[in-house]
Amino acid sequence: MSKKQIGILTSGGDCAGLNAAIRAAVHRAHILGWEIYGIIDGTAGLLRDPPEYKKLHPNDFDGNIMRLGGTVLGTTNKGNPFSFPMPDGSQKDISDKIVDGFKSLGLDAVIGIGGDGSFAILKKLAEKGRINMVGIPKTIDNDIGMTETSIGFDTAVAVATEALDRLQPTAASHDRVMVLEVMGRDAGHIALSAGISGGADVILVPEVKYSVEKIAEKIRNVKKSGRNFALVVVSEAVKTPEGDKLVVTYHGGEKRYGGIGHYLSQQIADATGFETRVTVLGHVQRGSSPTYNDRLLASAFGVKAVDLIQEGKFGRMVAWSNRQVVDVAIEDAIAAYQQIDLNGTLMQTARALGISLGD
Ligand code: F6P
Repeated sequence: MSKKQIGILTSGGDCAGLNAAIRAAVHRAHILGWEIYGIIDGTAGLLRDPPEYKKLHPNDFDGNIMRLGGTVLGTTNKGNPFSFPMPDGSQKDISDKIVDGFKSLGLDAVIGIGGDGSFAILKKLAEKGRINMVGIPKTIDNDIGMTETSIGFDTAVAVATEALDRLQPTAASHDRVMVLEVMGRDAGHIALSAGISGGADVILVPEVKYSVEKIAEKIRNVKKSGRNFALVVVSEAVKTPEGDKLVVTYHGGEKRYGGIGHYLSQQIADATGFETRVTVLGHVQRGSSPTYNDRLLASAFGVKAVDLIQEGKFGRMVAWSNRQVVDVAIEDAIAAYQQIDLNGTLMQTARALGISLGD
């Protein structure tokens, strides 16, 4: 087996467990006698002159690195290089520069750790530059198809569950309805899983159309049953009953979901007479030390990604299926975008427990 030189990068929003995946790949590559290089800030590092990267050595990747949130390589979730936003407001295809940057490193293959958006871009770049690529799925949103879970989701759910644990006593002490807004982009996985685990009374996800009256009915019933408080979890992409998306515009025009928690809190207060309060969990869901599940998943994925390179299997994404790590075609994973299965076990469980989905 010839000595290979491989690259690894993290792309898209950070999440817990990225460092564990990088660590696993570094150790596996070292055991195979290969060299591994970390590309800094995802594809943004390849745009720099010279491209920014560093050699990764196992000594720098002891167990401690696994405990750290974020990514030691840095990442970017801004701009599609095929239509990159320029300072003058125009868009430019800068993909050649990224491909040239990668080629200049003389690597045999690259491991891209990303979500479905990043994979779509990385796959196009890989095809354009004939780059050997393997993908590792990560996203707190857990919306990547063909894998049961992705790095970061378990930690995000753990953080959101803990938030509900902490909101419950204050809700009970003040006779309040506490509304927790969680992330997840267009998929409600975090809300559904944390809502069940954290004992929510109402879970609102973008996949299910709700009415304020149904939410109010549930909360009134909670009160009738003798309980003086309620917990509501709402996913950030839930729309208003009129179908409006609520977004926040940040500097530079970047738009992100935000506002549905406050909107619903007002609606619930008006409809029930309960005092309400809102917690928007935001990036707290991404930043913590990974759970043991995310460390295990990331370790298995990192090893498998390097092994795929050893086998010469490219254009593949490592995936979790039936208690095992497997590999699937990246394009199949991108095409199989995974929202909540409305007839799936977790939806059935929520309904069977009497949790209101607002419908
Ligand atoms: O995709 C991960 C995610 O955290 C989403 O859940 C959220 O909508 C978005 O990223 C936030 O993006 P940013 O970090 O750019 O604010």
